[in-house]
Amino acid sequence: MIIAIDGPAASGKGTIARRLAAHYGLPHLDTGLLYRAVARALLDFDHPLGDETAAVRAAQALDRSHLDETRLRGREMGEAASVVAALPAVRAALVDWQRAFARRAEGAVLDGRDIGTVICPDAPVKIFVTATPEERARRRFRELAGRGESVTFEDVLDDIRRRDARDSGRATAPLAVAPDARLLDTTSLDIEQAFRAAVAIVDAAGIAPARA
Ligand code: DC
Repeated sequence: MIIAIDGPAASGKGTIARRLAAHYGLPHLDTGLLYRAVARALLDFDHPLGDETAAVRAAQALDRSHLDETRLRGREMGEAASVVAALPAVRAALVDWQRAFARRAEGAVLDGRDIGTVICPDAPVKIFVTATPEERARRRFRELAGRGESVTFEDVLDDIRRRDARDSGRATAPLAVAPDARLLDTTSLDIEQAFRAAVAIVDAAGIAPARA
């Protein structure tokens, strides 16, 4: 039972995926962390973000210990991850890792940009989570300000628009709605309402796993 969640930055997909995983007792993989970890490795060793050879090496060397969220969060890392994620060889190097995670007997919840289209095209439940750029920027701004990052709302909105354009415009595995995905627009929903809507989609698919 694979639940594939895709969507743009700050759409709510990460929280929805985490909560669905807890609700159905499934393991969860935030695939954005893989690209963030590759970007982090490049920056740590002073490689340019466009250095495909070094990026592939970093991708091949990834293991769970590199996915420590606190080091990978933050505005700079999201932007850097979006740059390395546009390199086709980096994406190719991360496909098996993600598919192996999804193949567990009990199933899994994966969230990212290309889960329903490329990584798990046969997933029985696909949800594309979205919200307007302004609402996503408001959420991200509140989150960054809460962490003490000094940033303006306009900067965050610019970031979101630039990231949307790069993630949707790249040639390999762009952010796109799978034809069989259900759209979940969270613009006017709080997180509880968004989660409930996601549960309704999974339950309606009629293949929900036994609850934990
Ligand atoms: O979900 P996130 O903001 O942590 O993702 C960071 C970047 O990684 C995002 O801008 C694009 C890239 N990404 C991707 O290309 N494919 C995925 N499956 C997940 C993330």
